[in-house]
Amino acid sequence: MATVLLTGGAGYIGSHTAAELLEAGYDVVVADNYSNSSPEGIRRVEQITGKKVKLYEADVRDAARMAEIFRENSIDAVIHFAGLKAVGESVQKPLMYYRNNIDTTLTLLEVMAQFGVKNVIFSSSATVYGAENPIPYSETMPRGTCSNPYGWTKAMMEQIFEDAAKADPALSVVLLRYFNPIGAHSSGMIGEDPCGIPNNLMPFITQVAVGKRDHLTIFGNDYPTPDGTCRRDYIHVTDLAAGHVKATDYVLKHKGVEIFNLGTGTPYSVSEIVEAFERVNGIRIPFEFGPRRSGDLPESYANADKAAQLLGWKAVRSLDDMCRDSWNWQKQNPNGYRTE
Ligand code: NAD
Ligand code: UD1
Repeated sequence: MATVLLTGGAGYIGSHTAAELLEAGYDVVVADNYSNSSPEGIRRVEQITGKKVKLYEADVRDAARMAEIFRENSIDAVIHFAGLKAVGESVQKPLMYYRNNIDTTLTLLEVMAQFGVKNVIFSSSATVYGAENPIPYSETMPRGTCSNPYGWTKAMMEQIFEDAAKADPALSVVLLRYFNPIGAHSSGMIGEDPCGIPNNLMPFITQVAVGKRDHLTIFGNDYPTPDGTCRRDYIHVTDLAAGHVKATDYVLKHKGVEIFNLGTGTPYSVSEIVEAFERVNGIRIPFEFGPRRSGDLPESYANADKAAQLLGWKAVRSLDDMCRDSWNWQKQNPNGYRTE
């Protein structure tokens, strides 16, 4: 079976993808500098699957270190998760975001070329559709204007991959545009472990549920949506991980660039998420309505047809599953991977 290198594989989406790839029979190598994770997530993936992961502490910007990894392993495909992802922080520290995200991608592509590795999958985001495109978003739409440096790094990196594939017809590139991943592995052993105050909705809700925060602020209730709160395409992280397994099968057989939305195609509002979380878990989430958060769009959701047609992949887990599994992870691990 083929060997897949996951850059940033110790993180939230990478660790879930490692588990699904191992279950599907792939061998997994992980390179991560633990800037937003720890080796514990991968140790738990090994416990869940009963299989070994070859784990390297490595900064993807370090070409010599990456060359060692490619020399020691016969890599068939790479999934490039490594990157910084906090939208607000990217506005405060844009150069850090451009430096880390763009440099990891350039170094990775150079080292892949050096070792003749031709297959790569990239973690992009629905944010690249920007403010101009109508919903639901389809892969044929042009990239739009992003509202923050994090989003721009994703748009720029997509362009870099497209140009690299144009110059090297042997390259096979899959760009995956994630919508809003939430939830956790059904075992409750791995999940999202944000540092500090969570920026994203579901980690914030679970921290209110576990008593770390006293209430949720819903950012705006005057949007042009059915209940006035923003609507998003939330997708269970295990469904997203399963999409990466299908994308790996695909990238090994094709050439050129293919873009796929990974979403469910069904939007839910912030108020609907809070209601579902309360109902499924029997926990009240105190909340108040606050002002809009700058950069938020009223609605974002996928047309998910292309992934169904070409990858044979569809999200199958429900919003109730997402709420249950997010809480199962948080209550079993109130401090994430930290033991204190
Ligand atoms: P995460 O922070 O949990 O994982 C990213 C991993 O990359 C971390 O383990 C971090 O330590 C590592 N990393 C960062 N810079 C590195 C470097 N220079 N060298 C080596 N490792 C490095 O985030 P995630 O939610 O798992 O996201 C994975 C990818 O998916 C990211 O590229 C992110 O931008 C993208 N994405 C995430 C979401 C989301 O909502 N979570 C949505 C769209 C796209
Ligand atoms: C954001 C980013 C996206 C990134 C994703 C994961 C933008 C436009 N989008 O998505 O690029 O990939 O994070 O990092 O920057 N909300 C509250 N209260 C909270 C937190 C969130 O009401 O405390 C609301 C938001 O207003 C939004 C929804 O919940 O309507 C989801 O927010 P969030 O989880 O941060 O994801 P996005 O903003 O959709």
